[in-house]
Amino acid sequence: MRTHYCGELTAQNIGETVTLFGWVDRRRDHGGVVFIDLRDRAGIVQIVSDPERTPESYPQADKLRNEYVAKITGRVSGREGGAVNPRLATGEVEIYADSIELLNSVTKQLPFQVSSADAEENVREDLRLKYRYLDLRRERMAQNLRTRHAVVKTIRRFLEDQEGFMEVETPILNKSTPEGARDFIVPSRVNLGEWFALPQSPQLFKQLLMVSGCDRYYQIARCFRDEDLRADRQPEFTQLDMEMSFMSEAEILDLNEALICQVFKAVKGIDLPRPFPRLTYKDSMERYGCDRPDTRYGLELVNVSDLLADCDFKVFSGTIKGGGIVKILPIPGGNDVISNVRIKPGGDIFREAAEAGAKGLAYIRVREGGELDTIGAIKTGLTDEMKAEILRRTQAQPGTLLLFGAADEGTVNKSLDRVRQFVAKEMKLYSEDQLNFLWVTEFPMFEWNEDEKRLEALHHPFTAPNPEDIDDLKTARAIAYDMVLNGTELGGGSLRIYQREVQEKVFAAIGLSDAEAQEKFGFLLNAFEYGTPPHGGIAFGLDRLVMLITGEASIRDTIAFPKTQQARCLLTDAPANVDDKQLAELEVRSTYVPKAAEDEA
Ligand code: AMO
Repeated sequence: MRTHYCGELTAQNIGETVTLFGWVDRRRDHGGVVFIDLRDRAGIVQIVSDPERTPESYPQADKLRNEYVAKITGRVSGREGGAVNPRLATGEVEIYADSIELLNSVTKQLPFQVSSADAEENVREDLRLKYRYLDLRRERMAQNLRTRHAVVKTIRRFLEDQEGFMEVETPILNKSTPEGARDFIVPSRVNLGEWFALPQSPQLFKQLLMVSGCDRYYQIARCFRDEDLRADRQPEFTQLDMEMSFMSEAEILDLNEALICQVFKAVKGIDLPRPFPRLTYKDSMERYGCDRPDTRYGLELVNVSDLLADCDFKVFSGTIKGGGIVKILPIPGGNDVISNVRIKPGGDIFREAAEAGAKGLAYIRVREGGELDTIGAIKTGLTDEMKAEILRRTQAQPGTLLLFGAADEGTVNKSLDRVRQFVAKEMKLYSEDQLNFLWVTEFPMFEWNEDEKRLEALHHPFTAPNPEDIDDLKTARAIAYDMVLNGTELGGGSLRIYQREVQEKVFAAIGLSDAEAQEKFGFLLNAFEYGTPPHGGIAFGLDRLVMLITGEASIRDTIAFPKTQQARCLLTDAPANVDDKQLAELEVRSTYVPKAAEDEA
């Protein structure tokens, strides 16, 4: 029987005989005395075996190698001569092994070192994912899983015990729930020719739970989205999903701040200041060029379109007259770190802007005494009054570099946002442990999809329009909110439409005909006619929350078995072929022709 976990032993256990199970983290032989670091999920403790003091266990100790699995019984002692190991939580003690039983050995060469004492941090990620069970034994990943568990546990305690939420599971085999990504689809054998979609979120079911009177729902919900992957996106990921009836937007934001504060207190011991700052979508786009600004640093954008509409620098005035805008990204101290070469074609700052669609970056440098230094037509194209006003608006000091973006509004915002983040990182304008939360509110209901030439819902089409804007839905603001932390969207939600007529109007605005709306969402429209309470909710990306809490750069490091950037599982090698028989049963045939075969044909 196990008496303790390795990592739990302290000086209080000195004198006890304990039985431990675990893996050999490291084995060292010091002149005939064998030292074994034994590791289990709680941590590491040092085991000692030598031919004189523990002759029974010595022959086995001598055989142990890294990652062998063993059962060890022995006496807990204080470290010889008080030599405490500060690296280990159990560093005050060691165990003299009376017996060692080898339970299993390692018969292949380890693909990488598991022990944090030996392991180099930079094991290739594909290797880590292929041998994920070994990777998860490593301290960093094991700690991330423990942190994830602690986060979920705190969420459950808060929502269930303090706030009266009930967890309800919703189906995985579904009709499509539109959240803006492609669906993963599953053919139905029983209903040949028909398909299920995996949920992009539990959105519609949680709303129906409100119709059912559930009042306060939550779920740690698996969601599936077939979209291009990034460091903070996985094809299957987990949401903390919530929905509440009869609550105002202010009450929902308040409850969610309290939840997040409780998580940070429980898991990190941090008291976050409340309330979180709030910023409207409009202000956020104006000041930061994006709707999830990193507010750990300034570098706020300054719009000068009104000022430069009639200037002689045609790049600016022409853009503005054509409906575009001109904004400035002022970089205090930028003159010292950003050379002209970096801003011009071929330079790295230029590349950042160009990848967001900008054609170039005009610039002005503010020198000692307020002298302005620049090149090209911008030099003569701006009047002294314009220059003075630019300095006033940007509050530029000597040393400041002013970068100009001139294009359509979307391109200017996108490119200056990108350069802003790039420069802040390079100039180390923030510290990694800073936590800047904020709410972005008043999102527009719709955005224009240029490819499909139609409006589409910015959040999702079940979001309620602001009643003040109801007369012109196309430009209406939604009662929608996102929680942002350090430039990452942690979660988003909205008050919902709960009246059939309003829902029908929104479907019409995004181009759904009555028949299509009925076919896709008839069940929801019908439900609205049976006494639907006003309701609203939110969903947090759990993987992202854990990523930010653990300080990881990718959500792959917060998920036990993630997919690669190419949407593959390297451990099991999914996705894979299926038997022809399975496809035949489903009456499904693949039309895919591998590239090489296509070329031959
Ligand atoms: P939304 O689509 O904004 O809202 O998703 C909510 C949160 O889920 C996280 N997230 C992701 N995390 C990892 N990988 C992905 N591919 C991924 N996509 C989204 C983000 C995001 O903020 N039903 C609505 C919520 C609501 O209205 O209540 C929804 O799903 O952190």
